[in-house]
Amino acid sequence: MSLTELDQRHVWHPFTQEGTAPPPLPMVRAKGASLFLEDGREILDLASSWWVNVHGHCHPAIADALAAQAHTLEHVIFAGFTHAPAARLAEALTSALPRPLDRVFYSDNGSTAVEAALKMAFQSWRNRGVLDRTLFLSFEGGYHGDTFGAMSVGRSSGFYAPFEDVLLKARHTPFAETWLNDGEVEDREAAALATLDFILDRDGAHLAGFIAEPLVQGAAGMRMCRPEFLRAVCARVSALGIPVIFDEVMTGFGRTGTLFALEQAGVVPDILCLSKGLTGGFLPLAATVASSAIYETFLGQDFSTAFAHGHSYTANPLGCAAALASLALFESERTLERIAHIRRANLRWLDEAAAVPGVTKPRVLGSIVALNLGGEGDYHSALGPVLKARFLEMNLLVRPLGNVVYLMPPACIPPEALARAHAVTLQILRENIPLYAHR
Ligand SMILES: Cc1ncc(COP(=O)(O)O)c(C=O)c1O
Repeated sequence: MSLTELDQRHVWHPFTQEGTAPPPLPMVRAKGASLFLEDGREILDLASSWWVNVHGHCHPAIADALAAQAHTLEHVIFAGFTHAPAARLAEALTSALPRPLDRVFYSDNGSTAVEAALKMAFQSWRNRGVLDRTLFLSFEGGYHGDTFGAMSVGRSSGFYAPFEDVLLKARHTPFAETWLNDGEVEDREAAALATLDFILDRDGAHLAGFIAEPLVQGAAGMRMCRPEFLRAVCARVSALGIPVIFDEVMTGFGRTGTLFALEQAGVVPDILCLSKGLTGGFLPLAATVASSAIYETFLGQDFSTAFAHGHSYTANPLGCAAALASLALFESERTLERIAHIRRANLRWLDEAAAVPGVTKPRVLGSIVALNLGGEGDYHSALGPVLKARFLEMNLLVRPLGNVVYLMPPACIPPEALARAHAVTLQILRENIPLYAHR
């Protein structure tokens, strides 16, 4: 029986309509920016395998660190015990972050990092005797993961209609997106801030926290905003004493050109969510980093104010060892410089791509380049699956978000591979004109 047949018998795939999806492709190995199928085909990974891969697949430095850790201490319960990889990683992360972000709470994935952050913000009020802050605020279109708290703040992404009746209460404020040569951004920002002011006037006293993907909303269609806008939003929220939570699950670890997007935003949140690139793309691990002020509200003499949250694999030593090795590569491989090269190449390419009829809103941030086909981004556009299949035919792993085409390669992508990705993408954009030009 083939690998695909075996899979089709018992496996249920994520974010997939199993009734219509083509059979999954059997992958056997990976190296650098390339993935290799069972039949020997080489596919260029321009989605960084769901935005997790940073330095390339099977990087030997991370693989070696993992192997060494696996022979030393593979896992131990993290309540009542600690170990070097977790303590050293917490030190490395907090050293790379601005004060007062200095307390690391580990979990397993992006959704749990968000879930822990929301619970921290909420319970922190309760621990101080404030009981009427039961609402969360997030940006329209924001995506924060698929667990219940994360779905609640991400409900305007449109993914969770079946769960609407059982989600937490949340408000959603407009995200003023922008793109290259956008002449009207300031008007859009002013309108978005006016709506925010209205929400804060009405609900500000009941908000437990505000969560945002800083500078770029990933799943909403790689929608980017100016740091000025994000700063203005956070200033208004912070002025009311409402904790700001940055979800850097996608933007963290170089994706936007700096190690964290918060550096370019010029905002220090009260809580920060990290995952995906944390281990360089090797293992599921997450960190929710809290300010000392939030942390201190959990200190007490009995369990009632403790953070009653934990996972079996909290601070898994293998994940922490991979994360330490990945962080070290940022220095030894000058990863941020590599990302700056990718950004410059993307900018040059966009001149040509933006000239294709029907292409709108060209945008670049760090190693991400994105554009829309025919107007507003629409995840449910029929173009998505058509384009994805066409890219695969051309041996490129590109997963358009509906009519939004974006490239997000690992930092190690060789210049000639990026040039090929650009050339093929341009060709495909031109081919699909009949499908989107009339939208
Ligand atoms: C910004 C953001 N937050 C949270 C998540 C959820 O992460 P995970 O898929 O690891 O649960 C994602 C996943 O794409 C994300 O992009």
